[in-house]
Amino acid sequence: RLKLGVLISGRGSNLQALLDAATVPDFPAAVALVLSNKADAAGLERARAAGIPALALPHKDYADKPAHEQAMTRALEDAGVELVCLAGFMRLLSPWFVDHWRDRLINIHPSLLPAFPGIDTHQRALDAGVRFHGCTVHYVRSEVDSGPIVAQAAVPVAPDDTAESLAARVLAAEHQIYPLAVRLIAQGQVTVEGDRARMSGPLVQPATAL
Ligand code: GAR
Repeated sequence: RLKLGVLISGRGSNLQALLDAATVPDFPAAVALVLSNKADAAGLERARAAGIPALALPHKDYADKPAHEQAMTRALEDAGVELVCLAGFMRLLSPWFVDHWRDRLINIHPSLLPAFPGIDTHQRALDAGVRFHGCTVHYVRSEVDSGPIVAQAAVPVAPDDTAESLAARVLAAEHQIYPLAVRLIAQGQVTVEGDRARMSGPLVQPATAL
């Protein structure tokens, strides 16, 4: 099974979705290590409850970003991690880290990229008046919230939505597409060609499953 390293900063509900998926016998990946840059991240407890090694590596304990990223990389490599999954990891990664893990580093973002990169995506979607919003799993490139797209799911925006109600609808979709994207990658169905990820094998369209 493909060994995953999951990087979190907080709640860890996407981590939980990956942990839950990995309990299914035919799931082709397993979480080998969880790292958090925040010592009090609730997701660390989720990992420990599942019997998965979980370490807090607070960035504040390191002299600078390179030292922190090297420590994370060492921990991931010591654990034999083959694919790094960002799951609510709220620190920008340097080009060094992104290049080191190139095509072995994915992220989940709460919008239909390339729309709404950055933060506050739900309020910005409401402000823009879009009728659909959603989430994206993508390979990470140096430019923020860019890179080859692996999976997306769209959700409708309701007339009375608040940022909170819309976020909850998107989050439920995130919990479906993150394990799906990992499954496709682990099964060798995703090939990265420059700025695009090409899918082979049976086409899986997550939006229709929601
Ligand atoms: C998720 O909605 C994720 O898409 C988002 O943070 C939340 C983390 O929730 N990520 C980003 O905004 C990255 N820029 P979780 O800790 O419960 O998985």
